[in-house]
Amino acid sequence: MTKLTIEEPLTLPSGQVIKNRFLKSAMSETFAKDGHPNQQHVNLYRAWSHGGAGLLFTGNVMIDHTALGEPGNVVVEDERDLPILKEWAAAGTENNAQFCMQINHPGKQSYRTLSKEPVAPSAIAFTGIYATVFNKPRALSKDEIKELVNKFTRTAVIAKEAGFTGVEIHAAHGYLIDQFLSPKDNQRQDEYGGSLENRMRFLIEVYESIRHAVGDDFPVGMKLNSTDFEPGGFSEDDSIKVVEKMSELGIDLIEISGGNYLNPAMSEGPKEGSNDAYFINYARKIKDLTDTPIALTGGFLSEAAMETALEQKDTELVGIGRPMVLIPDLPNRVMNGTYATIKLPILKTRVPFIDKNAGPLVANSYYEQQMGQIAAGEEPKYSTNGWSPFLRLIRLHGISGLMPRRVKR
Ligand SMILES: Cc1cc2nc3c(=O)[nH]c(=O)nc-3n(C[C@H](O)[C@H](O)[C@H](O)COP(=O)(O)O)c2cc1C
Repeated sequence: MTKLTIEEPLTLPSGQVIKNRFLKSAMSETFAKDGHPNQQHVNLYRAWSHGGAGLLFTGNVMIDHTALGEPGNVVVEDERDLPILKEWAAAGTENNAQFCMQINHPGKQSYRTLSKEPVAPSAIAFTGIYATVFNKPRALSKDEIKELVNKFTRTAVIAKEAGFTGVEIHAAHGYLIDQFLSPKDNQRQDEYGGSLENRMRFLIEVYESIRHAVGDDFPVGMKLNSTDFEPGGFSEDDSIKVVEKMSELGIDLIEISGGNYLNPAMSEGPKEGSNDAYFINYARKIKDLTDTPIALTGGFLSEAAMETALEQKDTELVGIGRPMVLIPDLPNRVMNGTYATIKLPILKTRVPFIDKNAGPLVANSYYEQQMGQIAAGEEPKYSTNGWSPFLRLIRLHGISGLMPRRVKR
């Protein structure tokens, strides 16, 4: 049998070898109680490492317990959870998989049930439906920015100590670093705002500080938006320049995604564009501009799409999220010829207001439930019924946390 391109190993600039081209992308597990990882994390990543992917990313791990992206996030700020972090890292590196911790700060994208007054580059509130779920942020001081650079670094150092084989800086999907990159969210007048060079400064400081602390042979990657699809926001041109700059600085891997809560292109794809890998047109634009390995994430379903993207060198790794929840051993199935392309379920409560306004949240809640199934040693359940994931959201946030309210600006 001829070997598939997807089975070929990849060596990162730091020297780490990834045994094949499958990346299990970050998906927030929401299992943690008070920020502590637990046995569910261990079980889930053991299932995934045995599923055959060469590289696994954790769901986003928060660097600051006062700033959570969603309830149930893991927080790593100090060494108190080192024993369970070591177990988690060991489970995710079984079967010769590489296992990186994705590290994140949500900035203003922190539910109002979690953050009374979130922080952001500038005090600019969400508009539209999300104005009801996120509170208006306050702008970070320069001292606080420096403190957050230290916190990102501390989390990365602890990840290394625990046995994770790399870290991924989350600079996509509208979270804090992405907010700094966006001229719409970042209207600072100091050296962190204005020109792209200034808007990139926080990302670069985080990267360089981590690199200095973990050394050249420990992989440090990032997740970046191709664009956030917002008028006046982080554009494709800006994104290309960030890729060039971060490559020049020696980053090991750039994972490409797109969108944010307002424009959930990461899970629905851009409005117009390819049906398969959502951001492949962007990947084609950057492939000759950088030698840094690229991982393309979002929309991969068929083996043909994965193979073609790799054969054409549009990407070096195929990032897969939701299909890895529905079929945790998807990579093994592709490699042993038993994978049949799946369709992602479209979750509906059939209440138009809920489906229109909370659709992406309900879908995420469904995948979180299925990660719970895998962690419990059960098979994930394929379903299109949005009620159970919706009711779970209500349990997590309370009905008032999700409902529209009068917003003071
Ligand atoms: C339940 C859920 C949680 C997610 N959490 C994260 C996260 O913590 N960090 C991140 O970068 N992306 C997160 N994502 C986005 C995925 O990494 C990925 O970009 C997206 O699902 C598109 O890939 P897919 O089409 O293969 O699912 C999440 C997606 C889902 C469904």
